[in-house]
Amino acid sequence: MFTARSAFSTIGRRAFSVSAHQSSKVTILGAAGGIGQPLSLLLKLNPRVTDLALYDIRGGPGVAADVSHVNTKSKVTGYDPAPEKLKAALEGAEIVLIPAGVPRKPGMSRDDLFKTNASIVRDLAKAAADYAPNAKLLIISNPVNSTVPITAEVFKAKGVYNPKRLFGVTTLDVVRASKFISEIQGTDPAGEEVTVVGGHSGVTIVPLLSQSNHPSIDGATRDALVKRIQFGGDEVVQAKSSAGSGGSATLSMAFAGSRMADSLLRASHGETGVFEPAFVQSPLYKDYGCEFFSSRIELGPEGVKEIHPVGKVNKYEEGLIAIALNDLAANIKKARHCDTPPIYAITDPRIGSGVCQGKPISRR
Ligand SMILES: NC(=O)c1ccc[n+]([C@@H]2O[C@H](COP(=O)([O-])OP(=O)(O)OC[C@H]3O[C@@H](n4cnc5c(N)ncnc54)[C@H](O)[C@@H]3O)[C@@H](O)[C@H]2O)c1
Repeated sequence: MFTARSAFSTIGRRAFSVSAHQSSKVTILGAAGGIGQPLSLLLKLNPRVTDLALYDIRGGPGVAADVSHVNTKSKVTGYDPAPEKLKAALEGAEIVLIPAGVPRKPGMSRDDLFKTNASIVRDLAKAAADYAPNAKLLIISNPVNSTVPITAEVFKAKGVYNPKRLFGVTTLDVVRASKFISEIQGTDPAGEEVTVVGGHSGVTIVPLLSQSNHPSIDGATRDALVKRIQFGGDEVVQAKSSAGSGGSATLSMAFAGSRMADSLLRASHGETGVFEPAFVQSPLYKDYGCEFFSSRIELGPEGVKEIHPVGKVNKYEEGLIAIALNDLAANIKKARHCDTPPIYAITDPRIGSGVCQGKPISRR
């Protein structure tokens, strides 16, 4: 279990055990945003990262200059928005994290971001497929349920798709589940592990409390806890809306993204028994139209080592999974039918421009 409290002490201890021969370049696309900046800082503190490449359409070099003064060994480089800079940011990367895109505003679901973020992620995925085809790709931009299948289609079209290396980052859901259940039980979140399966949006997020330390949580307490885990992101969106500029979870998300990247680095550097949930290409519910599904994943040097089944669930959780599969299948289908390039048009004043043409992605 990786918690906020243990993160820095663990990283500090590991500083002595990381071999000088291991070099790991990590690239963040969208590094100057609300998530990108704290994520850059957390990765600068990670001794497994030797090169940190920070790219954004605005502000990448500024964030890099700032973060580069932190006195850890890694080299930090910022990149301006130009095709050759994007290429340089990506080349040689072992891990590429993508938090580029727009965040939610109050009243929006993650799916409402599709129009704008689908094309941003698609274009960045094309560059990643060209310049870092072997990197592990961590998609943070929402709606993850759709941006991950879009990325898979781009990689397939380029002939470089390896499902073991594509991850939708759902780590924040298990981080929240662990914290929220500990608040109810009065326990230390460090000892609370809750498996969360499904996708990363509202009812597609399914916490399996029956597999937690507290399987007897029931009734109204259980219903409220499940709802809080599913819609925890809304608490942050609402709270931030009063500040004017708004936005969604950034600091807790940066923590979760940094944990996921660290887990992949540990696994690629030979550590065994590294588990994380993630939204990956999965056989578990393929028959239900869900070719992508989040469950407990064992990580290895190649990325996904083993996808664990959902395991024993109770009737209530069976019902939650059924509801999740319905939404998830629609989210994945929508992604499959998003063509390139999009026709831009103002379609939603809350998020600006961008619209999907609704044709299958062409294989070029
Ligand atoms: N997976 C999760 O659990 C999770 C949690 C919270 C937020 N998110 C999502 O993460 C995304 C980013 O959120 P944020 O709060 O950091 O938003 P933000 O607006 O603060 O930052 C986004 C950054 O992306 C940059 N950007 C936009 N288009 C780009 C492009 N084509 N290339 C490079 N950079 C580009 C912007 O300049 C900006 O700096 C949103 O889609 C949000 O919904 C995901």
